Amino acid sequence: MAKAKGTVFFCQNCGYESAKWMGQCPGCREWNTFVEETVVTGTGKGSGRKTGNPHTAAEPETLSDISLSEEERTSCGIRELDRVLGGGIVEGSLILVGGDPGIGKSTLLLQVCQRLAAAGKEVLYVSGEESLRQIKLRAARLGEFTDHLKLLCETDLDTIEDVIQKKRPQIVIIDSIQTMSIAEVSAAPGSVSQVREATGILLKLAKGLNISIFIVGHVTKEGTVAGPRVLEHMVDTVLYFEGDRHAAYRILRGVKNRFGSTNEIGVFEMESDGLKEVTNPSRMMLSGRPEDASGSVVTCAMEGTRPILIEIQALVCHSNFGIPRRQTTGTDFNRVNLLMAVLEKRLGLQLGSCDAYVNIAGGIKIMEPSIDLGIAMAVVSSFKNRAVDGSIIAMGEIGLSGEVRAVSMIKVRVQEAKKLGFTCCIVPGVCRESLKDIEGIKIIYVDSVSEAMDLI
Ligand code: TYD
Ligand code: MG
Repeated sequence: MAKAKGTVFFCQNCGYESAKWMGQCPGCREWNTFVEETVVTGTGKGSGRKTGNPHTAAEPETLSDISLSEEERTSCGIRELDRVLGGGIVEGSLILVGGDPGIGKSTLLLQVCQRLAAAGKEVLYVSGEESLRQIKLRAARLGEFTDHLKLLCETDLDTIEDVIQKKRPQIVIIDSIQTMSIAEVSAAPGSVSQVREATGILLKLAKGLNISIFIVGHVTKEGTVAGPRVLEHMVDTVLYFEGDRHAAYRILRGVKNRFGSTNEIGVFEMESDGLKEVTNPSRMMLSGRPEDASGSVVTCAMEGTRPILIEIQALVCHSNFGIPRRQTTGTDFNRVNLLMAVLEKRLGLQLGSCDAYVNIAGGIKIMEPSIDLGIAMAVVSSFKNRAVDGSIIAMGEIGLSGEVRAVSMIKVRVQEAKKLGFTCCIVPGVCRESLKDIEGIKIIYVDSVSEAMDLI
């Protein structure tokens, strides 16, 4: 069939396709995200590729006929990453690692290569961003590498495909998808159609040859490269690197995972010789906590199955303008406004004329309602300029009538607090039953915000 060329408009944000330009994307409701791209229709590559899956003979099978091989998951040697992946790399899976430029994606994946190669796996690292020399320089900081790691600097996906077909590595890293291009697609590398076609080819390779492929994707708010959101639905697992690139701590969060839970996080610290795992995130989140400062309260949030102690900081001061300023970092802005309204109504505090800033220290984002009590106590502590005892930890959800409601997995949270040397826990009254056999830490049960505030 002859190839036909045409132009199509794509939304840079979500990949919505349209025959004409539009101001607002009907798919994701973003404005000004449409770009024009030339696409090749007919027997373009991608649609008529030879990387057939040997298992897709057009013959349906029953579940019981499908055999699972013994070692289904490969540990990547980095425990925090294994945890986010749900216990290791699943054979033949496509994993997207997204994040801002400079956050440490290449570093993390090179470290994964290092560990896997040391474990005897055949690994191929394809870089479209750095030269072999630059990779070598980075690798020199990370330590020893075995010869099971092969490097390739290439941006043409057809060549990469041939190499993969020939060498049959077990793990492939593509750094990054925005630099890869296919000759048949005339759009520039990084455009929606290139990114989507390239991922389609990688997907076929992964499933057909049972290779696990990591794809690096840059996230850009606007601009020339397509955000990896376009490919989120194509891959099996989506991991995002969060955190400030100027801060030392990085959080790896699972956003989508066909083979595991998505609420686990991995915590890393960037050091001069690569990313180091942080096995005790609570200690890290609480480091540098001020003593006897008003507006600082420690609470406990759950990240998947793991409790993490965090410090909530609030600063409440008299507003100089008609409309008071409210600002939050690391938590839900509307939730903080709601809590302040509850405090105003139920405790009679004059917060309406005050500016308020609420911050979760350590660069982590927590949306869980169990930190409500912590936020409320921090706000009141700052408002009254009275410090909360540093050995106290508070948790509980606050309802609109000022009641303190139950939180999940309270026992695990209290135990974590105890492990880190806290001596007193303020918890919801309804949790009495679950905590009756906890020893070695004082527990204060509260049923309403006013009871909790009396303790400040
Ligand atoms: P990089 O992995 O290149 O980020 P990305 O691939 O996500 O764009 O690395 C990001 C930063 O990490 C870079 O500014 C340098 C720093 N870095 C270290 O601090 N220590 C190290 O050992 C390495 C390799 C990098
Ligand atoms: Mg990089």
